[in-house]
Amino acid sequence: MIGTDILHAAALLRSGKLVAIPTETVYGLAGNALDEAAVLEIYRVKARPEFDPLIIHIPDVAVLTHYVAEIPATAERLAHAFWPGPLTLLLPRKPIIPDLVTSGLDHVAVRVPEHLIARELLQMLDFPLAAPSANPFGYISPTTAQHVEAQLGDKIPYILDGGPCQVGMESTIVGFDGATPVIYRKGGIPIEAIEALCGRVKVMPHSTSQPTAPGMLKSHYAPLTPFFLMKNGLPEGTRGNIGVISLMRKYDVPHCEVLSEKGDIDEAARHLFAAMRRLDALGLEAIYAELVPETGLGSAINDRLIRAAANG
Ligand code: TXA
Ligand code: MG
Repeated sequence: MIGTDILHAAALLRSGKLVAIPTETVYGLAGNALDEAAVLEIYRVKARPEFDPLIIHIPDVAVLTHYVAEIPATAERLAHAFWPGPLTLLLPRKPIIPDLVTSGLDHVAVRVPEHLIARELLQMLDFPLAAPSANPFGYISPTTAQHVEAQLGDKIPYILDGGPCQVGMESTIVGFDGATPVIYRKGGIPIEAIEALCGRVKVMPHSTSQPTAPGMLKSHYAPLTPFFLMKNGLPEGTRGNIGVISLMRKYDVPHCEVLSEKGDIDEAARHLFAAMRRLDALGLEAIYAELVPETGLGSAINDRLIRAAANG
Protein backbone atom coordinates (compact mmCIF):
# COMPACT_ATOMS: atom_id res chain seq x y z
CA MET A 1 0.00 0.00 0.00
CA ILE A 2 1.20 3.52 -0.81
CA GLY A 3 0.65 6.24 1.78
CA THR A 4 2.13 9.20 3.61
CA ASP A 5 1.68 8.01 7.20
CA ILE A 6 5.13 8.33 8.70
CA LEU A 7 3.96 7.10 12.15
CA HIS A 8 2.63 3.92 10.55
CA ALA A 9 5.93 3.45 8.72
CA ALA A 10 7.87 3.87 11.97
CA ALA A 11 5.61 1.38 13.80
CA LEU A 12 6.07 -1.23 11.04
CA LEU A 13 9.85 -0.78 11.11
CA ARG A 14 9.92 -1.09 14.92
CA SER A 15 8.08 -4.40 14.64
CA GLY A 16 10.69 -5.79 12.23
CA LYS A 17 8.73 -5.22 9.01
CA LEU A 18 10.01 -3.63 5.79
CA VAL A 19 8.90 -0.27 4.42
CA ALA A 20 9.90 1.37 1.13
CA ILE A 21 11.08 4.89 1.90
CA PRO A 22 11.78 7.97 -0.20
CA THR A 23 15.27 9.43 -0.30
CA GLU A 24 16.64 12.21 -2.51
CA THR A 25 18.51 9.62 -4.61
CA VAL A 26 16.14 6.68 -5.16
CA TYR A 27 13.53 4.86 -3.07
CA GLY A 28 15.01 2.42 -0.55
CA LEU A 29 13.70 -0.91 0.76
CA ALA A 30 14.21 -0.27 4.46
CA GLY A 31 14.42 -2.47 7.53
CA ASN A 32 16.02 -2.34 10.98
CA ALA A 33 19.74 -2.72 10.26
CA LEU A 34 20.37 -4.20 13.72
CA ASP A 35 17.73 -6.93 13.31
CA GLU A 36 19.07 -9.91 11.35
CA ALA A 37 15.61 -11.21 10.52
CA ALA A 38 14.59 -7.87 8.97
CA VAL A 39 17.85 -7.70 7.00
CA LEU A 40 17.36 -11.23 5.72
CA GLU A 41 13.86 -10.26 4.58
CA ILE A 42 15.39 -7.37 2.55
CA TYR A 43 17.59 -9.81 0.62
CA ARG A 44 14.62 -12.13 0.11
CA VAL A 45 12.21 -9.45 -1.17
CA LYS A 46 14.83 -8.03 -3.54
CA ALA A 47 16.01 -11.49 -4.61
CA ARG A 48 19.47 -10.15 -3.93
CA PRO A 49 22.48 -12.39 -3.34
CA GLU A 50 23.69 -12.14 0.25
CA PHE A 51 27.23 -11.39 -0.90
CA ASP A 52 26.03 -7.93 -2.00
CA PRO A 53 26.13 -5.74 1.15
CA LEU A 54 23.66 -3.04 2.21
CA ILE A 55 23.95 0.66 3.04
CA ILE A 56 22.83 1.79 6.49
CA HIS A 57 21.03 5.11 6.82
CA ILE A 58 21.43 7.28 9.93
CA PRO A 59 19.71 10.56 10.93
CA ASP A 60 22.87 12.63 11.35
CA VAL A 61 26.62 12.52 11.68
CA ALA A 62 26.38 12.65 15.50
CA VAL A 63 25.39 8.95 15.76
CA LEU A 64 28.06 7.75 13.31
CA THR A 65 30.36 6.63 16.15
CA HIS A 66 27.67 4.18 17.38
CA TYR A 67 28.22 2.10 14.27
CA VAL A 68 31.74 2.73 13.00
CA ALA A 69 35.02 2.11 14.82
CA GLU A 70 37.13 4.74 13.11
CA ILE A 71 36.56 7.88 11.04
CA PRO A 72 39.55 8.93 8.92
CA ALA A 73 40.05 12.70 8.71
CA THR A 74 39.20 12.67 4.99
CA ALA A 75 35.92 10.88 5.72
CA GLU A 76 35.08 13.44 8.36
CA ARG A 77 35.67 16.25 5.91
CA LEU A 78 33.46 14.63 3.29
CA ALA A 79 30.71 13.92 5.81
CA HIS A 80 30.65 17.53 6.97
CA ALA A 81 30.64 18.84 3.41
CA PHE A 82 28.04 16.53 1.86
CA TRP A 83 25.77 15.13 4.62
CA PRO A 84 22.87 15.10 4.55
CA GLY A 85 23.10 14.17 0.89
CA PRO A 86 23.86 11.56 -1.78
CA LEU A 87 27.19 10.38 -0.36
CA THR A 88 27.90 6.93 1.14
CA LEU A 89 31.09 6.32 3.12
CA LEU A 90 32.74 2.92 3.63
CA LEU A 91 34.06 2.87 7.20
CA PRO A 92 35.35 0.19 9.62
CA ARG A 93 32.29 -1.22 11.36
CA LYS A 94 31.58 -1.85 15.02
CA PRO A 95 30.42 -5.34 16.06
CA ILE A 96 26.85 -4.04 16.58
CA ILE A 97 26.41 -4.15 12.78
CA PRO A 98 25.33 -7.69 11.79
CA ASP A 99 27.54 -9.63 9.35
CA LEU A 100 24.57 -9.94 7.06
CA VAL A 101 24.50 -6.16 6.50
CA THR A 102 28.11 -6.02 5.30
CA SER A 103 28.20 -9.52 3.76
CA GLY A 104 30.94 -10.27 6.26
CA LEU A 105 33.16 -7.35 5.15
CA ASP A 106 34.86 -5.33 7.87
CA HIS A 107 33.61 -2.02 6.48
CA VAL A 108 30.04 -0.80 6.58
CA ALA A 109 28.49 1.58 4.05
CA VAL A 110 26.80 4.54 5.77
CA ARG A 111 24.91 7.58 4.65
CA VAL A 112 22.73 10.43 5.97
CA PRO A 113 19.95 11.01 3.44
CA GLU A 114 18.70 14.53 2.78
CA HIS A 115 15.03 13.84 1.98
CA LEU A 116 12.96 15.45 4.75
CA ILE A 117 10.65 12.46 5.20
CA ALA A 118 13.58 10.05 5.43
CA ARG A 119 15.26 12.25 8.00
CA GLU A 120 12.10 12.66 10.05
CA LEU A 121 11.58 8.90 10.02
CA LEU A 122 15.18 8.14 10.99
CA GLN A 123 14.95 10.64 13.86
CA MET A 124 11.93 8.77 15.23
CA LEU A 125 13.78 5.44 15.33
CA ASP A 126 16.52 4.29 17.69
CA PHE A 127 18.15 2.06 15.08
CA PRO A 128 19.64 2.70 11.62
CA LEU A 129 17.83 1.57 8.48
CA ALA A 130 19.46 -0.84 6.07
CA ALA A 131 18.11 0.12 2.65
CA PRO A 132 19.13 -0.99 -0.81
CA SER A 133 17.34 0.53 -3.77
CA ALA A 134 13.74 -0.77 -3.76
CA ASN A 135 13.89 -2.71 -7.04
CA PRO A 136 14.33 -6.39 -7.83
CA PHE A 137 18.08 -7.17 -7.99
CA GLY A 138 19.66 -6.02 -11.25
CA TYR A 139 16.71 -3.88 -12.44
CA ILE A 140 16.42 -0.08 -12.72
CA SER A 141 16.22 1.80 -9.39
CA PRO A 142 12.83 3.34 -8.47
CA THR A 143 12.44 7.13 -8.33
CA THR A 144 8.73 7.24 -7.44
CA ALA A 145 6.49 5.33 -4.99
CA GLN A 146 4.61 3.99 -8.04
CA HIS A 147 7.81 2.43 -9.42
CA VAL A 148 8.20 0.53 -6.13
CA GLU A 149 4.54 -0.49 -6.11
CA ALA A 150 4.77 -1.90 -9.64
CA GLN A 151 7.39 -4.46 -8.65
CA LEU A 152 7.40 -4.93 -4.89
CA GLY A 153 3.87 -3.80 -4.01
CA ASP A 154 2.66 -7.28 -3.09
CA LYS A 155 5.82 -8.17 -1.12
CA ILE A 156 5.97 -5.36 1.45
CA PRO A 157 3.33 -3.92 3.79
CA TYR A 158 3.89 -0.21 3.11
CA ILE A 159 5.42 2.27 0.68
CA LEU A 160 5.98 5.72 2.18
CA ASP A 161 5.36 8.25 -0.58
CA GLY A 162 7.70 11.24 -0.64
CA GLY A 163 7.13 12.28 -4.25
CA PRO A 164 9.60 11.92 -7.11
CA CYS A 165 13.26 11.73 -6.03
CA GLN A 166 15.04 15.06 -6.51
CA VAL A 167 18.49 13.71 -7.41
CA GLY A 168 17.32 10.55 -9.16
CA MET A 169 20.74 8.87 -9.13
CA GLU A 170 22.05 6.64 -6.32
CA SER A 171 24.59 7.96 -3.84
CA THR A 172 28.28 8.21 -4.64
CA ILE A 173 30.10 5.46 -2.69
CA VAL A 174 33.49 6.47 -1.29
CA GLY A 175 36.04 4.32 0.54
CA PHE A 176 39.55 5.27 1.62
CA ASP A 177 43.07 4.24 0.77
CA GLY A 178 44.89 6.06 3.55
CA ALA A 179 43.87 9.69 3.05
CA THR A 180 42.86 9.19 -0.58
CA PRO A 181 39.15 8.84 -1.38
CA VAL A 182 38.35 5.82 -3.57
CA ILE A 183 35.17 6.02 -5.64
CA TYR A 184 33.39 2.63 -5.69
CA ARG A 185 30.25 3.90 -7.39
CA LYS A 186 29.67 7.15 -9.25
CA GLY A 187 26.52 8.87 -8.06
CA GLY A 188 24.73 11.96 -6.82
CA ILE A 189 27.85 13.81 -5.59
CA PRO A 190 30.04 14.52 -8.63
CA ILE A 191 33.67 13.39 -8.47
CA GLU A 192 34.75 16.99 -9.19
CA ALA A 193 33.12 18.11 -5.92
CA ILE A 194 35.04 15.45 -3.98
CA GLU A 195 38.29 16.39 -5.71
CA ALA A 196 37.72 20.06 -4.97
CA LEU A 197 37.62 19.18 -1.28
CA CYS A 198 40.20 16.37 -1.00
CA GLY A 199 42.48 16.62 -4.01
CA ARG A 200 43.01 13.62 -6.25
CA VAL A 201 40.76 10.58 -5.93
CA LYS A 202 40.99 7.01 -7.22
CA VAL A 203 38.13 5.62 -9.28
CA MET A 204 37.62 1.85 -9.14
CA PRO A 205 36.80 0.27 -12.50
CA HIS A 206 33.73 -1.97 -12.77
CA SER A 207 34.31 -5.61 -12.43
CA THR A 208 32.24 -8.76 -12.48
CA SER A 209 34.96 -10.58 -10.58
CA GLN A 210 35.06 -8.50 -7.42
CA PRO A 211 32.57 -9.93 -4.97
CA THR A 212 34.03 -7.69 -2.24
CA ALA A 213 32.46 -4.66 -3.87
CA PRO A 214 29.45 -5.92 -5.75
CA GLY A 215 28.19 -2.36 -6.26
CA MET A 216 30.55 -2.67 -9.14
CA LEU A 217 28.82 -5.52 -10.93
CA LYS A 218 28.92 -4.53 -14.57
CA SER A 219 25.48 -5.65 -15.68
CA HIS A 220 23.03 -3.71 -13.54
CA TYR A 221 20.30 -1.12 -13.90
CA ALA A 222 19.22 -3.21 -16.85
CA PRO A 223 15.88 -2.94 -18.63
CA LEU A 224 14.41 -6.17 -20.03
CA THR A 225 14.34 -4.69 -23.55
CA PRO A 226 17.59 -5.04 -25.55
CA PHE A 227 19.51 -1.86 -24.72
CA PHE A 228 22.27 -0.30 -26.83
CA LEU A 229 24.48 2.77 -26.72
CA MET A 230 24.60 5.04 -29.78
CA LYS A 231 27.96 6.24 -31.02
CA ASN A 232 27.06 8.89 -33.59
CA GLY A 233 23.30 8.90 -33.71
CA LEU A 234 21.17 5.91 -34.62
CA PRO A 235 22.91 3.17 -36.62
CA GLU A 236 22.15 3.52 -40.34
CA GLY A 237 18.92 1.79 -41.40
CA THR A 238 17.55 1.29 -37.87
CA ARG A 239 13.81 0.72 -38.20
CA GLY A 240 10.93 -0.77 -36.29
CA ASN A 241 9.30 -0.19 -32.97
CA ILE A 242 12.25 1.26 -31.10
CA GLY A 243 12.88 3.81 -28.39
CA VAL A 244 15.63 6.37 -27.89
CA ILE A 245 16.93 8.09 -24.77
CA SER A 246 18.74 11.34 -25.48
CA LEU A 247 19.86 14.36 -23.53
CA MET A 248 18.16 17.07 -25.62
CA ARG A 249 17.90 16.02 -29.25
CA LYS A 250 14.50 14.82 -30.52
CA TYR A 251 14.95 11.70 -32.67
CA ASP A 252 12.39 10.72 -35.28
CA VAL A 253 11.54 7.30 -33.84
CA PRO A 254 8.28 5.91 -32.41
CA HIS A 255 9.34 6.64 -28.80
CA CYS A 256 11.92 9.26 -27.88
CA GLU A 257 12.65 10.24 -24.28
CA VAL A 258 14.44 13.61 -24.07
CA LEU A 259 15.98 13.84 -20.59
CA SER A 260 16.26 17.63 -20.48
CA GLU A 261 15.15 19.97 -23.24
CA LYS A 262 17.59 22.62 -22.07
CA GLY A 263 20.42 20.10 -21.71
CA ASP A 264 20.58 20.45 -17.94
CA ILE A 265 22.53 17.47 -16.55
CA ASP A 266 20.92 17.53 -13.10
CA GLU A 267 17.48 17.47 -14.68
CA ALA A 268 18.60 14.61 -16.92
CA ALA A 269 19.75 12.62 -13.87
CA ARG A 270 16.40 13.22 -12.21
CA HIS A 271 14.55 11.87 -15.26
CA LEU A 272 16.79 9.01 -16.40
CA PHE A 273 15.40 6.01 -14.49
CA ALA A 274 11.75 6.97 -15.05
CA ALA A 275 12.47 7.32 -18.79
CA MET A 276 14.16 3.91 -18.88
CA ARG A 277 11.19 2.35 -17.11
CA ARG A 278 8.63 4.00 -19.42
CA LEU A 279 10.39 2.71 -22.52
CA ASP A 280 10.91 -0.73 -20.99
CA ALA A 281 7.16 -1.02 -20.33
CA LEU A 282 6.33 -0.62 -24.05
CA GLY A 283 7.61 -3.99 -25.24
CA LEU A 284 9.90 -2.37 -27.82
CA GLU A 285 12.31 -4.23 -30.08
CA ALA A 286 15.21 -2.17 -28.79
CA ILE A 287 16.18 0.93 -26.85
CA TYR A 288 19.09 3.11 -28.00
CA ALA A 289 20.70 5.60 -25.64
CA GLU A 290 22.99 8.54 -26.23
CA LEU A 291 25.79 9.19 -23.72
CA VAL A 292 25.80 12.67 -22.13
CA PRO A 293 28.71 15.06 -21.41
CA GLU A 294 30.89 13.63 -18.60
CA THR A 295 30.71 16.72 -16.36
CA GLY A 296 28.93 16.79 -13.00
CA LEU A 297 26.30 14.06 -12.73
CA GLY A 298 26.93 13.22 -16.40
CA SER A 299 29.58 10.74 -15.40
CA ALA A 300 27.10 8.85 -13.16
CA ILE A 301 24.43 8.95 -15.91
CA ASN A 302 26.88 7.46 -18.41
CA ASP A 303 27.93 4.81 -15.89
CA ARG A 304 24.29 3.67 -15.56
CA LEU A 305 23.72 3.69 -19.34
CA ILE A 306 26.88 1.68 -19.96
CA ARG A 307 25.89 -0.85 -17.33
CA ALA A 308 22.34 -1.09 -18.68
CA ALA A 309 23.85 -1.91 -22.07
CA ALA A 310 26.24 -4.51 -20.65
CA ASN A 311 23.70 -7.31 -21.19
CA GLY A 312 23.27 -6.60 -24.87
O1 TXA B 1 21.41 6.24 -2.99
C1 TXA B 1 21.59 5.14 -2.50
O2 TXA B 1 22.70 4.75 -2.13
C2 TXA B 1 20.37 4.22 -2.35
C3 TXA B 1 19.40 4.85 -1.33
C4 TXA B 1 18.23 3.97 -1.01
O3 TXA B 1 20.12 5.18 -0.18
N1 TXA B 1 20.76 2.91 -1.96
C5 TXA B 1 21.39 2.06 -2.82
O4 TXA B 1 21.61 0.81 -2.27
O5 TXA B 1 21.69 2.37 -3.94
P1 TXA B 1 22.01 -0.45 -3.16
O6 TXA B 1 22.04 -1.58 -2.20
O7 TXA B 1 21.11 -0.56 -4.31
O8 TXA B 1 23.45 -0.15 -3.61
C6 TXA B 1 24.46 -0.09 -2.62
C7 TXA B 1 25.75 -0.56 -3.17
C8 TXA B 1 25.70 -2.04 -3.48
O9 TXA B 1 25.95 -2.25 -4.82
C9 TXA B 1 26.77 -2.65 -2.59
O10 TXA B 1 27.54 -3.55 -3.31
C10 TXA B 1 27.60 -1.46 -2.16
O11 TXA B 1 26.72 -0.38 -2.16
N2 TXA B 1 28.05 -1.67 -0.78
C11 TXA B 1 27.30 -1.69 0.34
N3 TXA B 1 28.04 -1.99 1.41
C12 TXA B 1 29.29 -2.13 0.99
C13 TXA B 1 30.52 -2.45 1.63
N4 TXA B 1 30.58 -2.66 2.94
N5 TXA B 1 31.63 -2.53 0.86
C14 TXA B 1 31.56 -2.32 -0.49
N6 TXA B 1 30.44 -2.02 -1.16
C15 TXA B 1 29.31 -1.94 -0.43
MG1 MG C 1 20.61 -0.88 -6.22
